[in-house]
Amino acid sequence: MSYSRLEQDFIDLFDGKRSAHLSKYVHLYRPEIYDDIVNDSRYYIYKLECEIIKKFADKIMLGVNNIFHVVELGPGSHSPVSSKTLPVLEALRENNIIKQYTAVDITKEYAYDACQTVKNKFEDIKSNAIVTNFVSDIGVEKITDKIIFSFGGTIFCNNNILEINQTINNISNLLKTGEYFIIGVDITDDEQSLSVTYHNQIVHELLLNVMYNLKQELNLENFDASAFDLVFEWQKESKDVVLYLQAQKTQQIILKDREININQGNKYNIINSRKSSLEIAKSVLEKYNIKIQETFILTDEFGNKFALLKTQKA
Ligand SMILES: C[S@@+](CC[C@H](N)C(=O)[O-])C[C@H]1O[C@@H](n2cnc3c(N)ncnc32)[C@H](O)[C@@H]1O
Repeated sequence: MSYSRLEQDFIDLFDGKRSAHLSKYVHLYRPEIYDDIVNDSRYYIYKLECEIIKKFADKIMLGVNNIFHVVELGPGSHSPVSSKTLPVLEALRENNIIKQYTAVDITKEYAYDACQTVKNKFEDIKSNAIVTNFVSDIGVEKITDKIIFSFGGTIFCNNNILEINQTINNISNLLKTGEYFIIGVDITDDEQSLSVTYHNQIVHELLLNVMYNLKQELNLENFDASAFDLVFEWQKESKDVVLYLQAQKTQQIILKDREININQGNKYNIINSRKSSLEIAKSVLEKYNIKIQETFILTDEFGNKFALLKTQKA
């Protein structure tokens, strides 16, 4: 990530010009936090998607033939790779000879760990880590006979609409006609349950990572990156969980030679988690010539819902 891009992203955040555009930074500092989150019983996304994969992996892979290459976008930390990527690869190997697994993630620890986990389990699969921002460029050469996965709601839940369009366009350009793309989308809309999942200490720490990363990358010695509270909002109309960091005190930092004021009480929208992602997914995928073939949905005892989409390039 170039410093000027990082600085511009934060200038836009503090100036209020852009919002919810920082999902790419949340794991860069303390990447180990994500594994704590997914193993926390409140984080239903992980549990439900693991269950969908356990229950339907063979069904999802039905008719998926002649695949040699797997590309995973945003594999994340060790637990999701062990509990989602490995079982899906296992199901895929029933009818395909998988030669190569490519992990694409902006968080370098995740990309390399995912490759190692796959290598440890399947010695015959070569693995390849690509550390990049997939909104700009997936960084994968145009290989044929592949399938693309993206689990955890990464693309549709945590990006803004412009980023979603750019990413799906990149994916569509990479897919050949008939190739598959398997993607998770979150469709929970119960405010009480969402507040339990998102309004807590561990999510607060995850969001603070963006401030710690800014401080570290730009060497902002006097910046108190911890001086922000977590604010949770549920926007019922748009079905968005909106997460802010609210300044506990007034501070000044210099970005691109400009003095930026962070005033006590100001709220900064770091990341959203969209729960209307099925509707968004349908319209954006169609726009880029990717058709939903089958939808696998599970609901838990609290009413949380998650869907895995099997899609195909038309
Ligand atoms: C919500 S986590 C999902 C992790 C895992 N797949 C799961 O199912 O739990 C999002 C993952 O995508 C990566 N990521 C987020 N934005 C990205 C971007 N713009 N480019 C590349 N990777 C990104 C993060 O580093 C992280 O690994």
